[in-house]
Amino acid sequence: MEIFPGVIRIKKEIATLNSTPGFRVYDEKLIRKRGKEYRLWDPYRSKLAAAILNGLREFPLHKSGNVLYLGASSGTTASHIADICHKGLIYCVEFSPRMMRDLIHVARIKKNMVPILADARRPEEYIHSIGKVDFIYQDLAQPDQTEILITNSDIFVPKFAMIAIKARSIDVVRKPRDIFKDEIDKLKNKFKIMQVINLRPYDKDHVLVSLKNLL
Ligand SMILES: C[S@@+](CC[C@H](N)C(=O)[O-])C[C@H]1O[C@@H](n2cnc3c(N)ncnc32)[C@H](O)[C@@H]1O
Repeated sequence: MEIFPGVIRIKKEIATLNSTPGFRVYDEKLIRKRGKEYRLWDPYRSKLAAAILNGLREFPLHKSGNVLYLGASSGTTASHIADICHKGLIYCVEFSPRMMRDLIHVARIKKNMVPILADARRPEEYIHSIGKVDFIYQDLAQPDQTEILITNSDIFVPKFAMIAIKARSIDVVRKPRDIFKDEIDKLKNKFKIMQVINLRPYDKDHVLVSLKNLL
């Protein structure tokens, strides 16, 4: 059953329609159904998959969507977004050269992924490589992650955004609940908070916040 555009549920699991049949990114299982190939989407490896399984309501991705992905790492989640937005572009910002090597390998096959080696704190360095963006997805695990999202949103003005907030990246002593509240309060100046999804049991002390730009 299709639960969102390009995302299907198979019993207790979810999968995306593979835009590059036969190609696997992180050893995920490939499944054939009615002549189409799907890639199983692992919620322990992808916070967006965890959020979907934990009840994400609004899904801002569609086949022609253009996405700015901050913290793309080796492309696990970004590759599923590339499946869903197969007619759009996924601009994948990552600052680790080690991760970028793996990401480039994925982007050679998934041609709508655009790898950008840059620090998400300095959008002025990649502004000229990026066209119109409908959605920002951010998963950086940095103490200033909320400020980074706000800076990028001010520049690229997406309609929607999602941020994975990792409490332990911000403070190892304070209660995660208090940390999440403070970060969400900062986001309220710029965004309507559509949903806050706890990612347990897939990720401890993490929430994914779904946002609509107020601009
Ligand atoms: C938790 S991992 C991302 C996992 C990935 N989102 C996924 O689901 O496949 C965080 C990534 O963000 C990158 N990162 C952290 N701070 C960054 C920054 N300021 N600019 C760009 N990348 C950054 C790290 O190198 C790391 O690869």
